[in-house]
Amino acid sequence: MKVLVVGSGGREHAIIKKIKENSSVEKIYACPGNGGIARDAECVQISATDIDGITAFAVENRIDYCVVAPDDPLVLGLVDALEEKGISCFGPRKNAAIIEGSKVFSKNLMKKYGIPTAKYEVFNDIEKALEYVKTAPVPTVIKADGLALGKGVIIAGTREDAEDAILSIMKEKKFGKSGDNIVIEEFLTGPEVTVLAFTDGKTVKPMVASMDHKRAGDYDTGLNTGGMGTIAPNPYYTKEIAAECFEKIFIPTINAMNKEGRTFKGCLYFGLMLTPDGPKVIEYNWRFGDPETQVVLPLLKSDLLTVMQSVTDGTLSETEVEFSDKSACCVIMASEGYPVSYEKGYEITLPDDLLPDVYVAGAKKDGDRLLTNGGRVLGVTAVEADMGDAVKAAYSKVDRISFANAYYRHDIGAKALACREVK
Ligand code: AMP
Ligand code: GLY
Repeated sequence: MKVLVVGSGGREHAIIKKIKENSSVEKIYACPGNGGIARDAECVQISATDIDGITAFAVENRIDYCVVAPDDPLVLGLVDALEEKGISCFGPRKNAAIIEGSKVFSKNLMKKYGIPTAKYEVFNDIEKALEYVKTAPVPTVIKADGLALGKGVIIAGTREDAEDAILSIMKEKKFGKSGDNIVIEEFLTGPEVTVLAFTDGKTVKPMVASMDHKRAGDYDTGLNTGGMGTIAPNPYYTKEIAAECFEKIFIPTINAMNKEGRTFKGCLYFGLMLTPDGPKVIEYNWRFGDPETQVVLPLLKSDLLTVMQSVTDGTLSETEVEFSDKSACCVIMASEGYPVSYEKGYEITLPDDLLPDVYVAGAKKDGDRLLTNGGRVLGVTAVEADMGDAVKAAYSKVDRISFANAYYRHDIGAKALACREVK
């Protein structure tokens, strides 16, 4: 089989490594991939958003199966375009990818179908939004409607901050057109859990729950990032909470999308907050999370490609999706200054024996050398029987990797370990 994976991050690297375990796979291409992915797949220099270019490549090279991982090509309809050419895909069609493409859509969907989420109001008028925050409780949460690379969320601690946030999103267009509409919502508290779930539109099979560490600095300080590290399983997500989420959130979401005529197939990302009033949805993403994938897939015991194909074929109910009961920790090594501004082009020293556990996100090849080429450079994962050992092992691997201006958080897993001690 020839498989094409669209995307260029650590998540795509994790997907590629797992797909490679299937013995029927003869060739994997990545569009566009990166310098680290190039060790595991043939990278083809076509941008992930070049829908015509990728479709033409897939047809010419007789691709049997395509995994579309990032948001942008999903929202642009890459799955629809490939399916029209008879190529099977993992990922939702355009009309279902809207669940992530528009926060207004997903909030309205949750309200209509009684799926628990933060209370909210939608605004397309600056004056009305400014008027509303004069009396809204603070902190308050302000979100740009469209895709903003995970950065379109501002938590305003005071009314002045809320006004500034509205002006920067709606007037100064800090996040571009995605700020034409905004959602202002209630500030929730509680531990955060990410649950990735396979679904073929009929059956939902949740993967092991994980915990992201979104802020740039140790102990959740600094700016929000795409994610600085992850652990799985998430100890806050007990069997009881999992059952409640399945019944009140996962199944109702799939049913709601079916009723809206937007059946979705692929990996649904539930960003949940376990509030004192029960689990609530913070966000949906219609894709694998990054760096959640780098801890979840290493724990998957079942064959990933088989599971993905069953999602495409609508036979997920008959397919086993089994996870190991071990623990995983992934520490992201970034370039100092991420997520704002950072230098790149520095050589990465990476011992060969660590390659199986390293998921490269932002690096390019320069002959035999690997150079930093992004904010998040790579993720280092360790899997051990015990969570404490997984955290230690991930950090001792990090100690053996170096590049100029490397930056990483030192507390990945600390919250999970503390929670386990309390229990
Ligand atoms: P999002 O891009 O929607 O996942 O938001 C990014 C981060 O902002 C989340 O992971 C939360 O930590 C935080 N956040 C988003 N919405 C809320 C909310 N309603 N209450 C508290 N924190 C929130
Ligand atoms: N790690 C957060 C995300 O993938 O959206």
